[in-house]
Amino acid sequence: MKNKQVILVKKPEGLINESHFSIVSTDIPTPKEGEVLVKNRYVSIDPYLRLLTEEPTTFSRGVKPGSRMESWSVGEVVESKSPVFQSGQYVLGYLGWQEYGLSNERELRPIDPSIASLPAFLGVLGMPGITAYLGMFDYGKPQAGQTVLISAAAGTVGMTAGQFAKMHSCKVVGITDSEEKCRFLLEELNFDSAINEKRENLEEKLKQYVPEGIDLYYDNVGGETLDTALLFLRKNSRVVICGMISQYNVKTPYAIKNFERLHSARATLKGFIVGDRTDRWPEAIRRLEVWVKEKKLKHRENVFHGLENAPKALHSIFTNAPIGKTVVEV
Ligand SMILES: NC(=O)c1ccc[n+]([C@@H]2O[C@H](COP(=O)([O-])OP(=O)(O)OC[C@H]3O[C@@H](n4cnc5c(N)ncnc54)[C@H](OP(=O)(O)O)[C@@H]3O)[C@@H](O)[C@H]2O)c1
Repeated sequence: MKNKQVILVKKPEGLINESHFSIVSTDIPTPKEGEVLVKNRYVSIDPYLRLLTEEPTTFSRGVKPGSRMESWSVGEVVESKSPVFQSGQYVLGYLGWQEYGLSNERELRPIDPSIASLPAFLGVLGMPGITAYLGMFDYGKPQAGQTVLISAAAGTVGMTAGQFAKMHSCKVVGITDSEEKCRFLLEELNFDSAINEKRENLEEKLKQYVPEGIDLYYDNVGGETLDTALLFLRKNSRVVICGMISQYNVKTPYAIKNFERLHSARATLKGFIVGDRTDRWPEAIRRLEVWVKEKKLKHRENVFHGLENAPKALHSIFTNAPIGKTVVEV
């Protein structure tokens, strides 16, 4: 038996697509003392994977052409040289786009599939859910009655962060890119307003929906959307820079014009990387699992089938993203 892997073959310039990857076959590794061999069931598709190809990043050494793509994955232990894990157990790890991954026992998290389906552990119960938790509660600090604006609101982080703001009795406005996604935000997640940025003028819609201004902008996209959101900052507001997905595939970054608004609004702007605060992950995971189990936190996953479709899935989140988390069934 061999191990199928997805390799980055060339550094992308502009939009990442299938031509940047190839499939190879290697030997399945054998675990040594303290190691665990995992058969991946689902691999994660995340916006930051595009940034890894710009190696090195500030949060990773990146992925060089000729190397296997990194990613989170969930799978089943098939061989264990660790007293902590047994064959057949489900785990979450950073095992990459491949069929079989070897991990140190300390870098695997046991998961309980009775809480949610396996793909959910890569989304709401994994790194993106933890990101929304830290971004909203540690940095955004929403308070009852405040107005919160969220971009990429139908993506995993956006929809989770938006639900947290609703739990805190905030008025929540989501920015997304289709009518179907607007309906989802309004009808399923009870957002107060939703803006289809592809069809509607963001500035006009914000004038209509948030005449009072915004207390917190949770930014997942950067670029022109961030620039427009700055115009609506209220006094002592916060801007949390979680991500800038609109800029990940462009050669010339958008130049922000409205930074003066931070000054006149006495606003704070905070960027963060979830991996810098792994000390906060256990609390976040505990609470996310309870909320999902109690159905207080909604989530959605979209599954591509076949490891060879991972590049196509990655391309899709930048071009035609579905609602929620994208994963690939290996
Ligand atoms: N700071 C951290 O540590 C950290 C950790 C995880 C993620 N992030 C960032 O959080 C953001 C969302 O990630 P996610 O996990 O929610 O990803 P996701 O589930 O794959 O969702 C991505 C969403 O981004 C939006 N999008 C895609 N291309 C876009 C473009 N060109 N312009 C504007 N919006 C676009 C779409 O939102 P709509 O469908 O609503 O239009 C899409 O659903 C990304 O910027 C990511 O890099 C940051």
